[in-house]
Amino acid sequence: MCGIMGYSGLQPPVPLLVSGLERLEYRGYDSSGVAFFDDFGLISVVRAVGKVSVLKEEVKDLAGHPGAAIGHIRWATHGGVKLENAHPHQSGPIVLVHNGIIENEQVLRIRLKGEGILFQSETDSEVLSHLVRLEYEKDRNFPEAVRRALGHVEGSYALAILCQNDPADLVVARNGPPLILGLGEGETFAASDIPAFLHFTRQVFSMENSTIALIRHDEVRVGSLDQTVESWKTPVSRTISWDPVFAEKGAYRHFMEKEIFESPRAMMDTLADRVSFGNILPEIARKAHEKPPAVAFVACGTSWHAALLGRSFLEQAGIPAFVEIASEFRYRRLLLPPGSWVIGISQSGETADTLGALEASKRAGFFTLGISNVPGSSLEREADLCLLTHAGPEIGVASTKAFQAQVALLMMLALALSPAPPREDLLESLIRSPHRLELFLESVPPESLDGRVERLRLSSLVMFAGRGLDYPLALEGALKFKEITYRPADGYPGGELKHGPIALIEPGVTVVAPMVDRSLRAKEISNLREIRARGGYVMAIGPLIGKDGHEIWYDDRIELPDDPPWSGIYQAAGILQLLAYRVASALGNDVDQPRNLAKSVTVE
Ligand code: M6R
Repeated sequence: MCGIMGYSGLQPPVPLLVSGLERLEYRGYDSSGVAFFDDFGLISVVRAVGKVSVLKEEVKDLAGHPGAAIGHIRWATHGGVKLENAHPHQSGPIVLVHNGIIENEQVLRIRLKGEGILFQSETDSEVLSHLVRLEYEKDRNFPEAVRRALGHVEGSYALAILCQNDPADLVVARNGPPLILGLGEGETFAASDIPAFLHFTRQVFSMENSTIALIRHDEVRVGSLDQTVESWKTPVSRTISWDPVFAEKGAYRHFMEKEIFESPRAMMDTLADRVSFGNILPEIARKAHEKPPAVAFVACGTSWHAALLGRSFLEQAGIPAFVEIASEFRYRRLLLPPGSWVIGISQSGETADTLGALEASKRAGFFTLGISNVPGSSLEREADLCLLTHAGPEIGVASTKAFQAQVALLMMLALALSPAPPREDLLESLIRSPHRLELFLESVPPESLDGRVERLRLSSLVMFAGRGLDYPLALEGALKFKEITYRPADGYPGGELKHGPIALIEPGVTVVAPMVDRSLRAKEISNLREIRARGGYVMAIGPLIGKDGHEIWYDDRIELPDDPPWSGIYQAAGILQLLAYRVASALGNDVDQPRNLAKSVTVE
């Protein structure tokens, strides 16, 4: 939902901003823009409609003068996709970029128009630029002008702001959307996400809500919005372990493809030092002694599918578990048993609905646990306790490796909360599953999927079905498929097909069936027979077990190794991701940045 970037330092800022925006492009790609000082000391603003590549072309001969500079990529909310709505927005000496939504924009706009301001765009962000300018004109104190202006604003924002008269100074502020500072030698970066500056520094500081910072090269002072600039303090940074290679495509055509193949590593890093007999998830050990009477998971999209699997794992451990779509849960009456835990799962740790659901749970007195992939994310800061998955930055908008990492973490959580000592076979299976996934992904020759990809591309409809553990996989397969191929696809519980969806089955329809849950296999097979009897084409994904007669219940089967329980979940997920990826690529779609979507949905 938009990405912002700011810089203050001695490098020519334009190339650095453009490459940072390219790494933030998963957050929006309707338009982009940069503002920087030129060699005459004047702020120059360049904006372009479309992807960062369009902007890149426009600024290819520009470097910008060292000092402060800002950049933006837009995912349109207020106002259409057109040049005048692209950021940065300028009002006199003030130029800014904004991620978020100003809720009292209409009131402010009317007031400002009354004061003679002429608006150039339909955006709520432009209002901010005028407010800051009016405050600046009072005493020409740049950071104080921003702070005072924000006192008039209701809503959410991550802001990076320049002032014509203070060429080295960058002012940034946060209330809601993420804003992370990267503290380098003689320079400082500010961005919506870490990959934007990962090549320059791994020293990061996550701005809290309702805070503001004044940055001049490597001098940074941060304060609360209700404190004047004199009392702002130098922040204490933390070092993150992410490798800059994560933010590069390398030999792959798309980040999504690369990230699918990074799944084993994502799982391995997530499991590392957290799983051995008698010592599972040490971070939770103390809290885990007070076993919750029930657990409610809240999440969205792919993270919600991981939560559905988490529910099965916890139920197997004897813990009642519920799974809720975060945007619904946050407005429900929270009738959970006292002492329950509410667990928010979010790759980005910034999804507004998940954060809102967790906040409501906290207010209601429940213990909140976050599961996030991003160190310093809002989820990490706001949950009572947060467990990080270590998938590394995920750039493709369609979530892949983060899913496998979340599932691995949820398996550990179930083992950690189980009243019984962990079953050795499950522990062993979990420890070995990253390697098994790696071997499996390496063993699938790309050409073995060609025919399957073609069939899916040409099918009149693709459905996904599964039972037990295979149902969340079916949902995830369908979500991956629809979000990047733009073809309708739904995931169904296999047993539910006969209650309606089976009416869709006819020749030309393909049903993709993950088959890794052995406990319900016989039932899944009979559901698939019903599909075939009506002319549907069944593409199963699973091992062949015992006497399964293949001619009877499937038309095609993608072979998974007959590995111990739980390993198959990761392998089936990998295949579902690959199939969606390959079909979308065959259709010529923009796989990493599918239309209308943004990676982290920081608005409701
Ligand atoms: O960052 P989060 O895990 O909270 O994101 C939740 C969803 O927005 C996300 O999983 C979305 O559904 C992806 N596009 C799925 O590929």
